[in-house]
Amino acid sequence: MKHSLIFLLCISLSSFSCTAQSLLPLPQRIKWAKGKFSTEKAFTINDQTKDNISKSSWLYTCKGYASPQQKGKSLRSVIFKSTHDITSEEGYSLHVAKDSIIISAHGTAGFQYALSTLRQLQNENNISCCRIDDSPAFPWRGVMIDVSRHFYPISFLKKQIDIMSFYKMNRLHLHLTDAAGWRMEIKRYPRLTNFAAWRTDSLWKDWWNGERKYTTHDTPGAYGGYYTQEELRELVSYASERNVMIIPEIEMPAHSEEVLTAYPELSCTHEPYKQADFCPGSIATYDFLENILKEVISVFPAPYIHIGGDEAGKVSWSSCPLCQKKMQEEGMKTTTQLQHYLIRRIGTFLKQNHRQLIGWDEIITDNLPEGTHIMIWRDLQHVQNAIRHNYNVILSPGTYCYLDAYQDAPDTQPEAIGGFLSLEKAYGFEPLKDISKEDQKHIKGIQGNLWTEYIPTTHHAEYMLYPRLLAIAEIGWNGTPQKNYAEFRQRALNNTDFLRRNNINAFDLSREIGNRPATLHSVKHKALGATVIYNKPVNPYYPGQGPSTLTDGLYGGWHHGDGKWQGFIGKNCFDITIDLGKNQHIRQVSTDFLQFSHPDIFFPGSYKISVSNDGVNFKNIYQQNYNVSEDPTVAAKEWTWKGKQHCRYIRIEADRGHLGGWIFVDEIRVD
Ligand code: ACM
Ligand code: ZN
Repeated sequence: MKHSLIFLLCISLSSFSCTAQSLLPLPQRIKWAKGKFSTEKAFTINDQTKDNISKSSWLYTCKGYASPQQKGKSLRSVIFKSTHDITSEEGYSLHVAKDSIIISAHGTAGFQYALSTLRQLQNENNISCCRIDDSPAFPWRGVMIDVSRHFYPISFLKKQIDIMSFYKMNRLHLHLTDAAGWRMEIKRYPRLTNFAAWRTDSLWKDWWNGERKYTTHDTPGAYGGYYTQEELRELVSYASERNVMIIPEIEMPAHSEEVLTAYPELSCTHEPYKQADFCPGSIATYDFLENILKEVISVFPAPYIHIGGDEAGKVSWSSCPLCQKKMQEEGMKTTTQLQHYLIRRIGTFLKQNHRQLIGWDEIITDNLPEGTHIMIWRDLQHVQNAIRHNYNVILSPGTYCYLDAYQDAPDTQPEAIGGFLSLEKAYGFEPLKDISKEDQKHIKGIQGNLWTEYIPTTHHAEYMLYPRLLAIAEIGWNGTPQKNYAEFRQRALNNTDFLRRNNINAFDLSREIGNRPATLHSVKHKALGATVIYNKPVNPYYPGQGPSTLTDGLYGGWHHGDGKWQGFIGKNCFDITIDLGKNQHIRQVSTDFLQFSHPDIFFPGSYKISVSNDGVNFKNIYQQNYNVSEDPTVAAKEWTWKGKQHCRYIRIEADRGHLGGWIFVDEIRVD
């Protein structure tokens, strides 16, 4: 199927039901006026731009469009005007009156965006009269698609570029390399594409949980693929015509199992199938990476190259003679310094080649080249660190921007990697929160990330992208200084409907169930506000809201990191005592546990309750061992004892037993 901007803009022209309710992203300034411009009645197009910018416009397909030969019929016109009065390169203004539409912009992007807005304004062949002045809040409005874990064809990427452009998004970041497969033709290193691009299982999950073997493309059952340089150049050009820049990501020094199996001499131990990290002590590593980057640079004209930089294990570096020698020579004390040495060296190489370094937030260190962009994926404290170093920041924190998380009640959804990111949560992201006025210049934009471990098909990929990407588009373009989720949701519903009518498999927002019902109301119970004594500490990564979390009347939702759950790990890890303040009659104790197998969170294997009057001598009232399952779905459930006791202290213990993993607990309710 051929997808193009014209295709997208022309199909179901009347599918938006109500003008203002379909504008997405919302323009910066709109002033409504009386009356409508009819696209059914005759009008001409008067293109005063030097590049004849209107040429691919959907306006030509409107019933009322009168060609120049028919001009005599109509005095009504749509005028395209280039202007330098609009300073934003992507900005535009629209002036819709009953007998004319004037579209002004600085350049091509602005005209394209004006046409998207106009298209969204059209309702049953009428466009409401208005004046719109619009420009983006952030220059970087992106999406990352991981084509390594599952490989998607160029036609799918083009289709997404069309949609991005329609919603005024302008950066497509391709995660081209990872353990699961190398996806870009590199002429100098053919084993990357005739071996490292192919694996033995089509589903990432089977491959990852199995032997994780690579194979050759002609082996029966081989799964994988790669883009040729020619295909990528053509994609770059297609995207550029739609104001979308393609940013390639080549992972280093970690997430590189596929490279280090194809070229094991680049790892510390030279053994295939053993290492995920390049050897940063070896000159061969730099030769290889620079040769790769030279080819990448020759294909992608973007001023930025993403070099990954996340999640380096660094394990072999402390025992590798070359790594140790390098550390000695450079006076480095830690392997993290060695990682930063590699990043700095590659950054310098990119700078010499007139490209700027982008990396995940682990790359933050001193003396990266000027212009370095830090892509934030972990928590937002890294933003401050990047700003302190005077780097640029692109925000894609997992909490708000990871589109691989469940978007609705997990038991109603296809298996996802985990987490819970509803449209409302994504829309709630405030990129400039807690950033001083002076530091805001560092924040270049926002990006949604589609990691694809659990997303084997393009159909599924669209389901995960939309409508949540619309929230990212809205924040990136409008900045959403005043948020109104109910209003946004209505526009998102209309646009989801539009996307679905246009053969884009968006999640059907109209059927959304939402977060766990238990999260909707706080509960009152006997232990509300009671002191919790931690006989074993809560894990510092998952403290919830601190010691009050388990007795604050608030239940956790589908996301273990939502701040309502507390996480515990280790032998007999969950052991707390609730102090009710005085002796009381109790009839019921319920503990709410979460199970979520991908981050290794499980229901407990044993669960015990004991009570005491003095906090020293405890009497066992309940003990149960459970046959724990590793059911991949997300589930939350209360474990309840019922009976009659009179006590001040209630001790609750839970353990995972020999299977290990996390225990996540939120409210402990006593009645
Ligand atoms: C990442 O999610 N490891 C960037
Ligand atoms: Zn090494």
